[in-house]
Amino acid sequence: MTPIDLRSDTVTRPTVAMRAAMAAAEVGDDVFGEDPTVNRLQGTVAELLGKEAGLFVPSGTMANQLALGTLTRPGDEVVCDAAAHCISFEGGGLAALWGVQPRPIAAPRGILEPEAVEAALRPVADHYPRTRVIEVENTHNRGGGAVYPLARVQALGALARKHGLDLYMDGARLWNASAASGVSLADFAAPAALVSVCLSKGLGAPAGSVLCGPRDHVATARRLRKRLGGGMRQAGILAAAGLHAIEHHRTRLTEDHANARRLGQLVAALPGAKLLHPVDTNLVFVIFEGQSAAELTKRFAAAGVLGLPEGSRPDLVRFITHLDVSAAQIEEAGRRLAGALGA
Ligand SMILES: Cc1ncc(COP(=O)(O)O)c(C=O)c1O
Repeated sequence: MTPIDLRSDTVTRPTVAMRAAMAAAEVGDDVFGEDPTVNRLQGTVAELLGKEAGLFVPSGTMANQLALGTLTRPGDEVVCDAAAHCISFEGGGLAALWGVQPRPIAAPRGILEPEAVEAALRPVADHYPRTRVIEVENTHNRGGGAVYPLARVQALGALARKHGLDLYMDGARLWNASAASGVSLADFAAPAALVSVCLSKGLGAPAGSVLCGPRDHVATARRLRKRLGGGMRQAGILAAAGLHAIEHHRTRLTEDHANARRLGQLVAALPGAKLLHPVDTNLVFVIFEGQSAAELTKRFAAAGVLGLPEGSRPDLVRFITHLDVSAAQIEEAGRRLAGALGA
């Protein structure tokens, strides 16, 4: 039985057409700024986000860390929600790389409330760390794929401006946020000084993110990228996959969202299961109250459906839909999960 892999939208494999685009890519040495395909990708994404410049980096984690490193100095503080990817899943990078501390704020589904953020800003005094950045994540991973309302992003941008701070947007799944809400990438990005988007999640490229913003910030990020060893040479092979993904896999993200909504209906009908959040994009978070997610996911895997224990509570299982699962496989996943639970 072929497993239906719903652990993450990062498990997709490049399509035949994407591999052909990669094979045909014109390349050069990107550390010298001479890879035409990387340059085209950076320009394309910057334009989509309404920013001056873009920087191709190997991963979403590096994009986040470069952005936060660019906007801060040691001893500064970054205000973010308590479940933010940049402080939950990036190996303590903020502290280890930049000497910066987070100011985590509890926020429903990870969507920051301006009043709570304003209350957390430090007064200017010798005693305090210097608040420097407000960080938002759109869509929010641990918030179950929640989409920021545009007005909220704008309010946080206005708050940042009022206090002389920068807004940074981790838009690893901004493509999904835009597809689900109809808000353009550029409108979501406008209030933020720097924004990153990931090519290897819903879009299905094998690697890479693009960090976009004003030319001087992107130049700083480029220098930091070199320091971290993220300068790649004939990276146009990978950039070509990203360009192909943007051109061919963007509009179909709504299919992933429809599949996730359907999966949500199917799992909510399982014995002992309930959805933690409404399904807004491609993430489905299911609580099996009082049961062990670690044990359950083993049982599901044996039945041919892969999910992940989400980790923020012991009974929470995460499923994510993506390019490599069809609507028919979602129906089959529902049957297999029901079988695994003896339903
Ligand atoms: C919201 C968010 N930001 C950043 C990342 C990091 O991306 P990468 O795995 O490419 O380092 C992820 C990964 O899942 C994510 O969900």
